[in-house]
Amino acid sequence: MSVLLRPETIKITRSDSPDPVLHAPAPIIEMKGVYKGYGSGVTRTEVLSNINLKIREGEFLAVVGFSGSGKTTFTQLLAGLIKPDQGTITMDGKRVTGPSPERGMVFQNYSLLPWLTVRGNIALSVNAVFKNWSKQARRDHVDRFIEMVGLSHAAHRRPHELSGGMRQRTSLARTLALKPKVLLLDEPLSALDALTRSQLGDEILKIWGEERQTCLMITNDVDEAIMVADRIVPLNPGPNASLGPVFTVGLDRPRNKTELNDNEHFKGLRNAVTNYLVAVRQRARKEEQASTQHLKFRLPEIEPQDLSRPFRAIHNTPPR
Ligand SMILES: Nc1ncnc2c1ncn2[C@@H]1O[C@H](COP(=O)(O)OP(=O)(O)OP(=O)(O)O)[C@@H](O)[C@H]1O
Ligand SMILES: [Mg+2]
Repeated sequence: MSVLLRPETIKITRSDSPDPVLHAPAPIIEMKGVYKGYGSGVTRTEVLSNINLKIREGEFLAVVGFSGSGKTTFTQLLAGLIKPDQGTITMDGKRVTGPSPERGMVFQNYSLLPWLTVRGNIALSVNAVFKNWSKQARRDHVDRFIEMVGLSHAAHRRPHELSGGMRQRTSLARTLALKPKVLLLDEPLSALDALTRSQLGDEILKIWGEERQTCLMITNDVDEAIMVADRIVPLNPGPNASLGPVFTVGLDRPRNKTELNDNEHFKGLRNAVTNYLVAVRQRARKEEQASTQHLKFRLPEIEPQDLSRPFRAIHNTPPR
């Protein structure tokens, strides 16, 4: 395993600046001044604030962040499932105004239809998108992707008959089968045990290596982000979460987890990203404490009434 950069040369850039490591001329996806919140009035939650990001064609970008910081909101904006309150999102220079098969999303909670089998779930999307293909071509296509994620033996099973890992594979196959130009993976591995997580992570990388789609993966695991990504961008804690600086991974592929554990560049990068996340979380907590300081409950300066004395005495009326 060769190393491109030494720890003292970890490259950190702004999220909207072009990356000289990737010699692509124009970004496939660009987010400019994006803001998103939910609700209105007193129930309003500001989630994302001034998001600026360029994603290069064919790159694997990992977004890391704490729970509740707005990662799913961020992915859904890119998928076109929700709209920004302010700012623009473009793909190939065209504004994203709704969902498209060009941007395939793998959901955090699988989102499979419970009454359909593995094959049925995948076929539903394939039949909807590739309407003009012959029945046989669509069937072969579905089978190819079921095989790709290692589920041929379970193709006839419904979601309740599958393990979490198998459900996530089905969800992945369903999205991959639509051959999206951009793959949006919202924590696809977080619900899995460590071994399955690592295996499925390797498979995602293998598929990405073969198809060379542009891929954005959300994760809360820094090691996982370094294993898969070309660049890592932290999402700062919310409310009003913004993007942190971009860390260029700069490790050759394929990456071997066991070898990386002794790799100085890997260790340096892991420390740099983790320290950044810890520091922003501490800052966010301090800011939250400062902003709620004035809301602390103060007791009114009154004396309690002595109810053991007669009513008139309590009200200071002179005894008759
Ligand atoms: N449809 C919605 N309506 C109102 N608030 C929402 C909605 N969706 C998300 N939120 C709020 O927005 C914030 C960010 O949620 P989001 O799901 O994007 O975070 P996340 O980083 O994906 O969290 P997790 O790591 O737990 O998946 C949370 O405070 C959440 O309660
Ligand atoms: Mg989420």
